Amino acid sequence: MAEQPWHAVDEFVTDLFGLRDAALDAGVAAADTAGLPHIQVSAAYGAFLNLMVRAVGARHILEIGTLGGYSATWLARGLPPQGRLVTLELDPRHAQVARANLDAAGVGERVEIVVGPAAESLARLAGEGREPFDLVFIDADKTGYSDYLELSLALAHRGTLIIADNVVRQGSVALAPADNPSSVGIRHFLEKLATDDRVDATVIQTVGAKGYDGMAIAIVR
Ligand code: SAH
Ligand code: DHB
Ligand code: MG
Repeated sequence: MAEQPWHAVDEFVTDLFGLRDAALDAGVAAADTAGLPHIQVSAAYGAFLNLMVRAVGARHILEIGTLGGYSATWLARGLPPQGRLVTLELDPRHAQVARANLDAAGVGERVEIVVGPAAESLARLAGEGREPFDLVFIDADKTGYSDYLELSLALAHRGTLIIADNVVRQGSVALAPADNPSSVGIRHFLEKLATDDRVDATVIQTVGAKGYDGMAIAIVR
C-alpha cells in the first residue's frame, strides 16, 4: 500500500508523545507471532482511550473485543488502583494471548477476560448485579454492534461514556452499506445511536496508521 502522509504523521505523533513501550511492543509481537489478526487500535488511539478513562474518572470499564489485549492495556493503565476492566472475547486463543500480555504489562489483576460470544456474556453480566460501567469500548464483530449497545445500556448509568471503533471503514458505512454485513451492522448501530433517546452521540472521522475510519462517541443521558 502506498505510504500516505497520515501514516508518517501517526509515526511522528507516536514518537513525539512516547506512545510505545516495551510492554505494548511485546504484546503486539506476541499476538502477531500467535497468528492473531493485526487489527488492534493504533498507539495514538490507545492513548486517546487512556485519556478518556481518566477524563471520566472511570473505575469500571467494559470492553467488547479483546484480541491480544492491546487496547485493554491502554484502558487498564488509565484506571485507579482499585479500578477494574472487564473485557469480552469470543476466541479462547485470543483470550489466552491477551491474558499473558496483560499480566506481563502489570495490569493483569485489574482485568477480567470473559470468553464467549459477547451477547451472551453481556446478558450474563446484567444478571450478576454488578456495579455499572463508567466507560464502554465496543470493538468486536461489527454485525453485533447494535445488540452490544442495547445490552451495554443495561450495564450503564447516567453519564457512562460509550466509544465504538470502526464506524466509517473507508466510507463504506455511508457509501455502500448494503455491500457487506459489517457495513450493514454498523449502519444499524449508528441509526440506533442517532435515534435512541437514552444517549447523546456523534461520529468523528479519523485517519492514521489504520487508514480512513472513525469512532462513535455517546453519553448515556
Ligand atoms: N480491541 C482490540 C481489537 C479487537 S479485534 C484492540 O484494539 O487491541 C476484534 C475482536 O473481537 C477479535 O479478537 C475477535 O475474536 C472478537 N470477536 C469477534 N466476534 C466476537 C463476539 N461475537 N463476541 C466477542 N468477541 C468477538
Ligand atoms: C477489523 C476489525 C477491527 O476492529 C479493526 O479495528 C480493523 C479491522 C477487521 O475485522 O477487519
Ligand atoms: Mg477495531
